[in-house]
Amino acid sequence: MPDDSSFSEKFACPRCDKTPLSEKNGGYHCSACKVTYPSVGDIPWLFAEPDSSLGEWRSRLHFSLQQLSNESQRMQVELAADDVGSLTRKRLERQVKAVDEHRNMLREFLEPIDIQSMQASFESYLALRTRLPIDQGIQTYYANIHRDWCWGDTENEASINEIKAIVSEGDGDNRALGDTLILGAGACRLAYDIHMQLDTVQTIAMDFNPLLLLVAKSVMQGDEPELYEFPLAPKSLEDFAVLRKLSAPRPVRENFHLVFGDAMRPPFAAASFDTVVTPWIIDIVNETLPIQAARINKLLKPQGRWINFGSLAFDHPERARRYSTEETLAIVTEAGFAPPHSSERTIPYMCSPASRHGRQETVFTFVASKTGDVNTPARHKALPDWIVTGKKPVPLLQSFRSQATSTQIYSYIMSLIDGKRTIADMAMILEQQKLMTHQEAEPAIRTFLTRMHDDSQRNSGF
Ligand SMILES: C[S@@+](CC[C@H](N)C(=O)[O-])C[C@H]1O[C@@H](n2cnc3c(N)ncnc32)[C@H](O)[C@@H]1O
Repeated sequence: MPDDSSFSEKFACPRCDKTPLSEKNGGYHCSACKVTYPSVGDIPWLFAEPDSSLGEWRSRLHFSLQQLSNESQRMQVELAADDVGSLTRKRLERQVKAVDEHRNMLREFLEPIDIQSMQASFESYLALRTRLPIDQGIQTYYANIHRDWCWGDTENEASINEIKAIVSEGDGDNRALGDTLILGAGACRLAYDIHMQLDTVQTIAMDFNPLLLLVAKSVMQGDEPELYEFPLAPKSLEDFAVLRKLSAPRPVRENFHLVFGDAMRPPFAAASFDTVVTPWIIDIVNETLPIQAARINKLLKPQGRWINFGSLAFDHPERARRYSTEETLAIVTEAGFAPPHSSERTIPYMCSPASRHGRQETVFTFVASKTGDVNTPARHKALPDWIVTGKKPVPLLQSFRSQATSTQIYSYIMSLIDGKRTIADMAMILEQQKLMTHQEAEPAIRTFLTRMHDDSQRNSGF
């Protein structure tokens, strides 16, 4: 990918917001925090605590590799059984081979993060209150890679067409996007299409998942790497693991850049972009929409545009934060934007030719022009002070209270498992201990043990 150092002039320190950062040892340095942000696979790694975030992703990589190795071993044990039919044998042998190769391919792609980071300090990571969401692993959104760079032409075209339509609807004939930032770019096909088909000066595609950006980099520079697809509902025996060649229509044109970073601490100076695009991300980020909207406002130049595209299915623990389309548009307007132009269209989503599973999604697209600045939101804190400092009382939350009670009972039930007692015996003991009546205890123990049994049978997913 062609290099152009001017994009790094937009960088700001994700710890203190100082800008610009100076170039140092192939990375970027904040003279105020005295922290150097490295480049990983030639992509700037702009997380507030670079060593610890590298360590976290590395441990998630090793967790994935371990899961794959267990998966392979389980299948080999199944293969050794006497009653395996010839077709089943054929399928399992293919799957074992695919999983083993997939493991090696992942390791190879992620070699840039698989290095011992220097003295990652968990304490300083906590102190900065940044943390990777627990539900994000190396292979979360893995399916996007094949959709983006192999079989997804129909879906990818539908997506870029939505962006083109909303851009021209929003501002008459003005299709120029100028300096463009894509937040949560994933495997980057939409970012690539925007850069190749719309009038951008430069495009920065940011995500925090190293696998997605490292694959995107390889494909967009013209390589044709291969990666296995493991469809959700394989159509045939061969479809359980499909080795796919990934490729871009042509190498990406100049002035396209990748950055590793967290959308909740975007490492860019205020007023750096003419356009910020949020594709399939506003409803999954761990931060409420009003705060996200204020951050996006801050990144935009005066009259800059925010383009949103994708699902609208907020899954916040508080129901008040699960916004409807109407509330979403109102929140955008309150965050210093003109009333957005919006549209909805139903498009295919993740319809792999090898899978019986695919869906349709009614995507919600809007464009909103910035009308003025709003107050800068506080830096994102992933954890409350009582966890970070250890000097404030741990609050006695109602959920902690009920968890404590059920954990005590569960651990007591576990302690009763001695290879001899039946569920009825254990229920009797719980009754004697006055923890539950016999009638309550038996079904409760059965439910708990069923869950434990299910967990022990569960396959690791890809
Ligand atoms: C649903 S996927 C969408 C990917 C891509 N925009 C697309 O349209 O295919 C969400 C993406 O957001 C990324 N993501 C989620 N939270 C993020 C955060 N806080 N900072 C940066 N990226 C994030 C994920 O790694 C993932 O690639």
